[in-house]
Parts: sequence; structure tokens; C-alpha cells
Amino acid sequence: MAEYKTPYLIDSHCHLDLPPFDADRAEVVARAQAAGVTLWVNPGIDLDQCRRALALAEQVEGLYVAVGIHPTSADRFTPETLQALHRLAQQPKVVAIGEIGLDFYWGNVDPALQQQVLLAQLDLAAELGLPVLIHSREANAAVADLLRSWVASSGYRRSLLARRPFAGVLHAFSGDLALAEEAFSWNFLVGLGGAVTFRNAQTLRALVPALRLDRLLLETDAPYLTPHPYRGQRNEPARLALVCEQLALLYGISPAALAAQTSATALRFYGLEDRFGVDSATHHTAVFV
Ligand code: NI
Repeated sequence: MAEYKTPYLIDSHCHLDLPPFDADRAEVVARAQAAGVTLWVNPGIDLDQCRRALALAEQVEGLYVAVGIHPTSADRFTPETLQALHRLAQQPKVVAIGEIGLDFYWGNVDPALQQQVLLAQLDLAAELGLPVLIHSREANAAVADLLRSWVASSGYRRSLLARRPFAGVLHAFSGDLALAEEAFSWNFLVGLGGAVTFRNAQTLRALVPALRLDRLLLETDAPYLTPHPYRGQRNEPARLALVCEQLALLYGISPAALAAQTSATALRFYGLEDRFGVDSATHHTAVFV
């Protein structure tokens, strides 16, 4: 394959640390690279997985990590957990806090506790100046209420994070245009993945062209949310190309143009443009080298 100066595609959210990849992780990474996906961000879901993701990132060059406690693990969050996240976040490959959020689908953790744990981690992100990866499942209204007051708070306003180009992303976006536009007004992005390819996702596909293209991140959420026609199988980052093709079709642009735009946004979002980016003058031509 061609050498890419800037990553052609960036998987802004995938879970390569999880057990479904234990048997063939190296092959999964090689297939992703062959498909032009050469940079990945792996969010943690609990402390053990955060540590596993960081160990993996030491071996895989383009792999970066977000540290955080997923809402379905929020019942195990203690003051010591927050201190541990603070320490882990100092490691050089950590680029965000996540994935954090609210999940009212599984119903295993009290919503009030989930909100408390989310807020503690949002404040950690503000303190460290790192963007947040937000998980929201059947909880969009509650997530919006909480983020709205967080970005208006003096703690957030005084933080370095408020001066970064972007503060966070609504990962696996499932809201409407009003929520997306409100999120953009908070300097948030939306993340889209395999769901845009699902047969029954007409509403999401109808929404996509109205979403600002410069506020979009591509993601697989592998091993979850496998794109059509592979639903039911394990997902992997190489399949980001299918997400890119579907979105390009919806925006009426080429997959290469969509890849270039979203990769540039992802590099800015994660603060990696110094390491991988191209200057804006060559932005549209320097993708292929
Ligand atoms: Ni995820």
C-alpha cells in the first residue's frame, strides 16, 4: 500500500484492548494498516482495561489511549479510582478522558451515581486540559443537561480545555440535529460509525448531510457496531473504510475527501497535529504521499 504522511483514516474510538482481539490482535492491526487506518484511539472502560490499553500502546506505534471509567462500571468508582486516572493520564500516549457518560439502557448502575462519576471525570478532564469521549445510551437528554451546565461552569471556563479547539465528542451519536448543533456550540464534535450503514438507520442517514462536516469524527467502536454487511461478526478498525464510504455517499463527496477532512479534525481534537499533521496550505494534497 501507499505510504501516508498523515494517517489516511483515523479510528477515533475502538477497543483493541478487549478480549475479542486477544487471539489475533497483530493481524487486526495489520489489516487496518492495509486499509489505510494507521492511527487509533483506544478508550478505557475500567481501570484494568485502561492499563491494558496503555501497555498495548507501548507496542503499537499509532495507538493512543483515553483513560476513563465507563458508566456501566461507575458503581466501582472510588476516590482512589480518580487518583489512579489522574496518574495514568500523565502517560505520554494518553490523549483524552473516556469513555465516560451515561447509560440508561443496561440499567445496572443508579443514574444519580452515573452522573456523579461523569462529573468527577469531566472535572478531571478540565483540570488536565484533555478532551472527553462521551458515551450516551438512551440518555441523550440527561447527557445534554449535564454537559450544558458543565461547559457554562467557572471551573470549565477557567480550564485549558476551554481554550483547545474542541472539548469533547458525542461518540456513536444518536441524537437529532438540535442536539448536534447544541454540541457544536459547546465546541463538541459528533462521532459516527457502523450505525450509519445499518439497514434500519434511515433516520440517521437522513440527518447526516445536515451535520457540519468539520465537526465529524469517524469511529468503529470495534469490536462493537459492525457495519453492514458484516453485522453479527466482530468489528475491527479495517472496517472504518465502509463507514467512510457510506458517509462520503451521503455528503456527496469522495471517500478520500471525507477521509482527509475527518483525519485533520481528529488530529486537532487529540492534539496530535504536531506529530502527524500537515500544515493547512498543503492540507488537501498532502494526504497521499
Ligand atoms: Ni466504545
